[in-house]
Amino acid sequence: VRELFECDLEIFPLATGTAANSLAIAAMTPPWGGVFCHEDAHIQRDELGAPQFFSAGAKLIPLPGAMGKLDRERLAVSIAEVEASRGTAIPASISLTQATEAGTVYRLDELQAIGELARRHSLGVHVDGARFANAAAALSVSPAELTWKAGVDVLGFGATKNGALAAELLVVFRKELAQELTLRIHRSGHRFSKMRFLSAQFEAYLEGDLWLRNARHANAMASTLGAQLQAAGIELLRPVEANVVFARFTPVLDEALRAAGFLYHDWPIFGPGAVRLVTGFSTKIEDVETFCRAAGAVSSKAGAV
Ligand SMILES: Cc1ncc(COP(=O)(O)O)c(C=O)c1O
Repeated sequence: VRELFECDLEIFPLATGTAANSLAIAAMTPPWGGVFCHEDAHIQRDELGAPQFFSAGAKLIPLPGAMGKLDRERLAVSIAEVEASRGTAIPASISLTQATEAGTVYRLDELQAIGELARRHSLGVHVDGARFANAAAALSVSPAELTWKAGVDVLGFGATKNGALAAELLVVFRKELAQELTLRIHRSGHRFSKMRFLSAQFEAYLEGDLWLRNARHANAMASTLGAQLQAAGIELLRPVEANVVFARFTPVLDEALRAAGFLYHDWPIFGPGAVRLVTGFSTKIEDVETFCRAAGAVSSKAGAV
């Protein structure tokens, strides 16, 4: 991992993204601290208060931002407001998700701008990298540039969503956090006696850039899926930059696809009819084409009516 990220660092294999997020945030944020994050962040919407629980009460400060990304200017205003308030929280950290929950990717300049802002205010920077591989594959930028060189202190380097069986790696660039993390991981029941089964997965994951090859494939499948749906007249709700496609399905289309046995999630936070389609390392081009043909057949029939 040190070779991959081109620096000295510490690692902690964990089994879930929620634990990786919460433990990393807890190590950088005191109970009275504030964590700036996007309003759609997994830590904000989907972890049942785990970051607050692990940090003994830190306050998440959710912010709006186009395309699922924290916006540097909006972030700067919020940090200033919280600093001025004295009673809201003590600004402690920024958590961002790469690739984002909207299926988009922070560009290098966007990351650097947030990192610079964090340094100016002495805030820790955490990256929820459940889909870090997809972001790295999309950007063709080195893992080092996407993380510590841009000011990231701790990365949750996800593998579960990219071929592994419950394996996430906490990558700690700010090494002084490692000692506390060792204790927090143990005390919270996340120190695995058979950690070698997690570590073995990472050996395979990194060998021959399997992690990047898997992610490139998943991204390519999403890109084809998005393009074919769009060609069939179906609206895409977010740009397809990683391995997630958000589209709007009419009730007729939704019903027909589900009746045909296709499985996917509704995504109501992106508006009426919004659905979320995720591709992975094992997605086959034939599956994408079958799905798009079925969708195209329904939408052209509906158009003709
Ligand atoms: C962006 C993001 N972060 C974290 C997680 C949490 O992972 P887990 O379900 O392993 O706790 C997920 C899972 O969906 C996710 O999409």
